[in-house]
Amino acid sequence: VPGRLKLTGLKLTKKASTVLLLGAGRMGLALLKGWLAGKVSPIVIVEPNPSPELLRVARARRIPLHDSLGAVDPAGVAIVVIAIKPQILKSEAASLQPFARAGALLLSIAAGTSIRSLTQACGRTARIVRAMPNLPGAIGQGISALYAPKKIAAAERARAEVLLTALGETVWVAREELIDAVTAVSGSGPAYFFLLAEALAAAGRREGLPKALADRLARATLAGAGALTRADVRDPAELRRDVTSPGGTTAAALAEFMKDDAFAELVARAVAAARRRSEELRG
Ligand SMILES: NC(=O)c1ccc[n+]([C@@H]2O[C@H](COP(=O)([O-])OP(=O)(O)OC[C@H]3O[C@@H](n4cnc5c(N)ncnc54)[C@H](OP(=O)(O)O)[C@@H]3O)[C@@H](O)[C@H]2O)c1
Repeated sequence: VPGRLKLTGLKLTKKASTVLLLGAGRMGLALLKGWLAGKVSPIVIVEPNPSPELLRVARARRIPLHDSLGAVDPAGVAIVVIAIKPQILKSEAASLQPFARAGALLLSIAAGTSIRSLTQACGRTARIVRAMPNLPGAIGQGISALYAPKKIAAAERARAEVLLTALGETVWVAREELIDAVTAVSGSGPAYFFLLAEALAAAGRREGLPKALADRLARATLAGAGALTRADVRDPAELRRDVTSPGGTTAAALAEFMKDDAFAELVARAVAAARRRSEELRG
């Protein structure tokens, strides 16, 4: 994957070296698996409701698993990776204060939670990096956008970025507000493609295909097109032109999609709505 950093061999060698994972649900577990594959250590997990899979992994790899932050000594913690739901983070943020005060970097992947609101809860000296991953991160094929305020040192940015490569690719944005636009494009984006697959399957049924067959064709086409865009570095527009012979079937369909720019306009309106909603949610 272009631009992907290597996790392998990462050791946080400073005195405080522990990576504390707060919340090991879908995203947290994916992070954990990537870290273990990349030999990130030591790791401590705080998760009050561990899944059977988490219990298995933690036991096999001898990773301490606690049900609350209070059980962890902040002194050894170099970085806290916050992977709990935003609404839970609201009530939990004050418990992060001792970790921030002891010098840990906080890396939050919680949607809609601004650095300002986290700073209010964790204290003015807290050092916070924010990231917006997306759902394919759960299988290591996502993309996360990161933002760090100026006061975060280059080495800490790098440390945050390396930990996030467990979910896939990483990119940086220069201003925190851009996280709202990122949320609207890549954060919510997987659902747009799922919707397109649903619509394609429904259209296939209208053309006489049995439901199971239409569903399978649509799903495999989405997956195949996704894999191709990953394997082939050319622009999607170029990939599209490549499969569109003049006067052919694809051209006939694309003429409908592209009439009066209707499809592009619809996508732009949808993305703007998501960006506005992201702004509203963070208040
Ligand atoms: N999934 C995505 O596509 C996506 C995309 C972008 C950003 N994010 C962000 O990533 C974060 C995690 O999402 P997710 O999909 O992994 O959610 P999730 O599957 O619900 O995982 C969150 C985990 O944290 C646990 N938890 C609850 N309270 C806790 C506490 N006080 N201390 C420690 N752990 C606690 C939850 O346990 P219970 O099950 O008992 O509540 C759950 O296992 C969220 O903030 C979300 O906004 C997710």
